[in-house]
Amino acid sequence: MTRGTTGHNRLRRADRWLAAVHEGLLRSAADPLVVDLGYGASPVTTLELFARLRMVRRDLEVVGVEIDPERVAAASAYRKPGLDFRRGGFEIPGRPPLVIRAFNVLRQYPEAEAWRYWELMASRLQPGGLIVEGTCSEIGHRAVWVGLDPAGPRTLTFAARFGGIDKPSDLAERLPKTLIHRNVPGERVHAFLTDWDRAWAVSAPFGAYGARQRWIRAALLLSDSWPLHTSAPYGGTARWRLGELSLPWSALVS
Ligand SMILES: C[S@@+](CC[C@H](N)C(=O)[O-])C[C@H]1O[C@@H](n2cnc3c(N)ncnc32)[C@H](O)[C@@H]1O
Repeated sequence: MTRGTTGHNRLRRADRWLAAVHEGLLRSAADPLVVDLGYGASPVTTLELFARLRMVRRDLEVVGVEIDPERVAAASAYRKPGLDFRRGGFEIPGRPPLVIRAFNVLRQYPEAEAWRYWELMASRLQPGGLIVEGTCSEIGHRAVWVGLDPAGPRTLTFAARFGGIDKPSDLAERLPKTLIHRNVPGERVHAFLTDWDRAWAVSAPFGAYGARQRWIRAALLLSDSWPLHTSAPYGGTARWRLGELSLPWSALVS
């Protein structure tokens, strides 16, 4: 058990990504159930997830799941139609969800367990379902998350508030547990972050038009040498302008 640190809008970037990039999945599912695993000392990010995803689909349901019974009891006051809270863990209680969102939870577990819990959660998904597993800074200005399914990790997304970083590799501290130990010379993720910093440095003149233009320019440059997602829904200017950048997980591990 941890202090359960959380806060208003901490997961806004990941919520926005889920609602936009996976809008089709959310809209087309027969049973649009989303689980927020490990929501923390207050259910605030679960409430925000519910509000944001309900904008995509009015009948979507969210269940906050916590291992700490006191946190479940505290959240129960916020129950309402479509929003519930339950005690549980990676085995995910109840019927299979379409999406499992787990943020700042696996950080506290050793790497080997993180892989195992990915598998366990994936085994609980509805067919075609998705896990969004990530880590972010205390106020959410730096975030990295993985999109994965029963076949394994698919995408890695970096997200930053412009002005919240000096260079892209500042986001390395938020890499998922399953990748962070690989951020050393000789590993692909390290080479990627090094190249991204270089593209960022070369794009410095575009900073005269704002950090957003510099980010977009750096992404374009980087896409010459890395298989970034460069078109919708995962990539391209519409995502980059938000301070996001996604690429296939397979590009980062040899
Ligand atoms: C740091 S808080 C994260 C809160 C929120 N998700 C956020 O990102 O702001 C981590 C929470 O995960 C919960 N947790 C840890 N292991 C868990 C598990 N196996 N199943 C469910 N919740 C767990 C802890 O009790 C804690 O409340």
